[in-house]
Amino acid sequence: MAKHAIPLLILIRTMLEILRISAAVPSIIVFGDSSVDSGNNNYVSTIVKSNFEPYGRDYKDGRPTGRFSNGRIFTDFISEAFGIKPTVPAYLDPTYNITEFTTGVSFASAGSGYDNVTSDVFSVIPLWKELKYYKEYQWQLKNYLGKKEAERFLSEALYMISSGTNDFVENYYMLPVRASEYSIEEFQNFLVGIARSFIMELYQLGGRKISLAGLPPIGCLPMERNTNLMLGGGCIESYNSLAKEFNQKLQALVEKLNKEQVGIQLVFSNSYGIFSDIIQNPNAFGFENTATACCGTGTFEMSYACDRYNPFTCKDANKYVFWDAFHATQKTNGIVADHAVKNSLAVFR
Ligand SMILES: *[C@@H]1O[C@H](CO)[C@@H](O)[C@H](O)[C@H]1NC(C)=O
Ligand SMILES: *[C@@H]1O[C@H](CO)[C@@H](O)[C@H](O)[C@H]1NC(C)=O
Repeated sequence: MAKHAIPLLILIRTMLEILRISAAVPSIIVFGDSSVDSGNNNYVSTIVKSNFEPYGRDYKDGRPTGRFSNGRIFTDFISEAFGIKPTVPAYLDPTYNITEFTTGVSFASAGSGYDNVTSDVFSVIPLWKELKYYKEYQWQLKNYLGKKEAERFLSEALYMISSGTNDFVENYYMLPVRASEYSIEEFQNFLVGIARSFIMELYQLGGRKISLAGLPPIGCLPMERNTNLMLGGGCIESYNSLAKEFNQKLQALVEKLNKEQVGIQLVFSNSYGIFSDIIQNPNAFGFENTATACCGTGTFEMSYACDRYNPFTCKDANKYVFWDAFHATQKTNGIVADHAVKNSLAVFR
């Protein structure tokens, strides 16, 4: 018996190692809004763009890419943490092809939301169309890798969905369409229903590892704080409560689908907590400024309003939580991604 014990152990270890490797995430596939758009809007006729300076100032070679930050965004850091590649390219960028997209691709569009009405505001890519592009991508991948290998990639890829902020700040609280139709509670349920259908479609198309992002404390975005100046420019607590409420609904959806759908590995990546920690205790993270953004005066500038000739833009974005009045700096993105990798996404490593 003892004679066989060691080879058997080695065999079991080898088998476990093979299982571990084949279960690793080979690709990151991204859907959503500006939090995860790596440049799709450069190829869309909309004013919601960021492919000009000073965007991308701290990106490799200081190049603006259409990411809404001074450097990399959340999903870039996730891809790197999973040992794949340091950035996730945009699907509509013609300088990339299926070779690069095999290990990761973003279909996200800045200004988009769960609701079609949201993406209509600035004529950006609606969520249903992001999914349409994804189906086109599946077809290309099968042509490129062969059906079997493509299916393996698609079932082991990590799908990341990050959306929702614009549905409230750009749509429900700005336009009468949905606000006259739904109470805020009904509107949240409507969005959760769309998120549910979207996840189910991904699942039916072969996706298994899926991360659904929660909302950050949207009342603390400099753009929102700026509307609160009469009250000292603090965070708008009603918006923060709304984000927390919506996150609870998303979390419940995740729990429900995990029970109902065989083989699905759905996680809720809630950045609310880590964002709040950063905003409440910036010095602990090396930040000096949370209330205003680096770009321009830091109170309202984003997209074309954040431009290279604005004399107020800060020198060192690493001291700022927010890059423009609506989006985090590269440094913040890195901290939030690191937190996700160690918490919600740890099951996939
Ligand atoms: C994609 O582009 C690279 C060069 O950037 C090239 O080597 C590769 O063959 C291309 N792949 C396909 C499938 O066209
Ligand atoms: C959004 O628009 C698409 C395309 O017109 C449609 O198929 C889909 O049902 C719409 N979604 C919702 C929730 O209304």
